[in-house]
Amino acid sequence: MRHSLSPILHDWFIKKFRLNAAYAAFEVDPGNLEQAVNGLRALSLGGFNVTIPHKESILQFVDETSDSVALLGAANTLKNKDGLVKAFGTDPFGFVESLGEDTGRFKGARVVVFGAGGSAKSIVYALGQLQVHYVCIVNRSRARAEALAGAALEKYGLQDVSVFDAEEDVLNDLISAADILINTTSVGMHPRINESILPDSSAISKKHFAYDLVYNPGMTKFLADARMRGAEVQSGLDMLIFQGLESVRIWHDEHFEIDKDELKEIRKILKTELGINE
Ligand SMILES: NC(=O)c1ccc[n+]([C@@H]2O[C@H](COP(=O)([O-])OP(=O)(O)OC[C@H]3O[C@@H](n4cnc5c(N)ncnc54)[C@H](OP(=O)(O)O)[C@@H]3O)[C@@H](O)[C@H]2O)c1
Repeated sequence: MRHSLSPILHDWFIKKFRLNAAYAAFEVDPGNLEQAVNGLRALSLGGFNVTIPHKESILQFVDETSDSVALLGAANTLKNKDGLVKAFGTDPFGFVESLGEDTGRFKGARVVVFGAGGSAKSIVYALGQLQVHYVCIVNRSRARAEALAGAALEKYGLQDVSVFDAEEDVLNDLISAADILINTTSVGMHPRINESILPDSSAISKKHFAYDLVYNPGMTKFLADARMRGAEVQSGLDMLIFQGLESVRIWHDEHFEIDKDELKEIRKILKTELGINE
C-alpha cells in the first residue's frame, strides 16, 4: 500500500472516541472495485474510504449517493448499512470545518482558485455553500477550468465565475482585486518544495487570506511568499483531519467533535509522521 496518513489519523479517532473499529489501508486494482464493495456487504463492514484513482469509478457500484456526491460525481467515503452501500464526499466539509470560526470572511468574498482537478471541485462546491460573491478559476489546462466553471454556475449555486489562464498578464490585477487565494494544485508539494503556483507574489498584500490544500510541507512556497507579503495563511493539514472526522461521523452516526487541544495533538502526530518540524 502506498504511503497514506489515513490509518494514523483514523487510529487516533478510534482511540479518542473509543470506537469499536479498526482501520486498515488496502491497494485495490481498478478491475476489483466491484468485489471490494461487495466485500463490504459480505463481511458486514461499516465502510471504507476511497482515494485516487477510484473516487469517480466507485460510484457505479454503490446503491445510493449523498447530495454532494451526486453533484460532484466523486466520493471518498462509503458506508454500508445492512447491505445498502451509500457514497459520501467529505472533502467540502473538511475544508469548511478547517476554517474554524473564519468562515465569515468568505461570505461575499472574491476568491481565486488555482487548479481545476478533483479537489478544486470540492473547494468550489464548498465556496458555493459559503456564499462567496465571485470565483475565478486559474488552471494550466483551460478546458478543465471551463468545465468546473460550468458546474459551479449550473450546480454549485455560484453566480459569478470566470476562468483565467495562468499566464495571462492580468493575473496580478485579478489577485489584487481578490480577498482569498486557494491553491488546489499539487504544485509545491514535497519533494518539489521550491515551486509555487504563483511565482510572482507581488500582488499579494495583507488583506489576503491564502489557503493551500497541500499539507506537506506545512509551509509551502505559495504560503511562505503570501505570508512574507503580510497575508494570513493556512495549510491543508486541518482539512485532511476534518475530512477524516466527517467520515467517522458518517460511519458511526454520531457527531463527534475535537477541541483545540485535541486538534493540536493530532496535527503534531501527523506532522511527525510527515517529518515536518515547523
Ligand atoms: N488537504 C486535504 O485534505 C487535501 C484533499 C484533497 C487533495 N489535496 C491535495 O490537493 C492537491 C491536488 O489534488 P487533486 O486530487 O485535485 O489532484 P488532481 O485531480 O490530479 O488535480 C491536479 C491539479 O493540479 C494541477 N497541476 C498539477 N501539476 C501542475 C503543474 N506542474 N503546473 C500547474 N498546474 C498543475 C492540474 O492542472 P491540469 O488540470 O492542467 O492538469 C490540476 O488542476 C494534491 O497535492 C493533494 O494532496 C489535499
